[in-house]
Amino acid sequence: MINDTLIKRLRECQHLAIVTGAGISAESGIPTFRDALTGLWETYDAEKLASEHGFREDPSLVWGWYEWRRHNVLQTKPNPAHKIIAQLEKQLPKVTLITQNVDDLHERAGSTQVLHLHGSIHQARCLECGAPYNYPQYADKPDSFSFPEQKLEPPHCECCHGLIRPGVVWFGESLPVDVWHYAEEAAEECDLMMVIGTSSLVFPAANLPLLAIGRGTPAIQVNPTDTQLSQVATFNLKGKAGVILPRLYELAFITELGMKC
Ligand code: OAD
Repeated sequence: MINDTLIKRLRECQHLAIVTGAGISAESGIPTFRDALTGLWETYDAEKLASEHGFREDPSLVWGWYEWRRHNVLQTKPNPAHKIIAQLEKQLPKVTLITQNVDDLHERAGSTQVLHLHGSIHQARCLECGAPYNYPQYADKPDSFSFPEQKLEPPHCECCHGLIRPGVVWFGESLPVDVWHYAEEAAEECDLMMVIGTSSLVFPAANLPLLAIGRGTPAIQVNPTDTQLSQVATFNLKGKAGVILPRLYELAFITELGMKC
């Protein structure tokens, strides 16, 4: 529930760290991973589709699946939750935005310096030499990738002819070192932590809110369902991010009657 203490915390906050997960993009039409029925890992095998081993075993299945997802992301737009987060960056002295999402909806909503813990679906690279790959325009056409299981041969690297792989972090891989360093620093230094749309099941990302809480920093969770974090979060705002965040912002920074809710 949004209460006076929460509104006061937000108004007086000097450094807000925000951790987002798939749930924040759900209202834009991007499926989450673990929601019953609609989550990607409910239907697809994470081991096959999100690991280097799976890619080496069946590159065209994995490349086709990521092209299908990338195409889906290109069709979507930021929702009110992404927009409020961009707005908070202007409102507060310091905001560090940390996302587990590989989409670019935070950037398209206006957030700057987004820390992508799990990489980006728009940045591919060579599996062997790491050279970046430039996507050709044809892949952005609406009808190019309609089926999740449409196999598609990955392109080859111009430098070493190795296979091009998606620029996301797969299971068993380390997070980008610099990104993780800044995220950890923000979790340690912030005076308010907000955790939006994540099941808090995937580590090390799920450790960031715990790090802040362990230092006595209050944490706000925005999620329609309970998660591992619910018991330790200071404030649990149950509902969709696209509804809760605009309401929170309005009460904290727009309406004079903010303290009444
Ligand atoms: P999950 O699918 O595990 O969790 C999504 C969370 O979003 C759930 O707790 C939902 O209740 C919540 N949710 C759903 N709709 C929402 C809404 N409209 N507003 C707010 N919350 C909503 O997704 P993540 O926690 O992001 O990793 O998953 C973490 C990582 O696991 C992903 O980055 C991905 C995946 O395997 C990689 O691909 C490396």
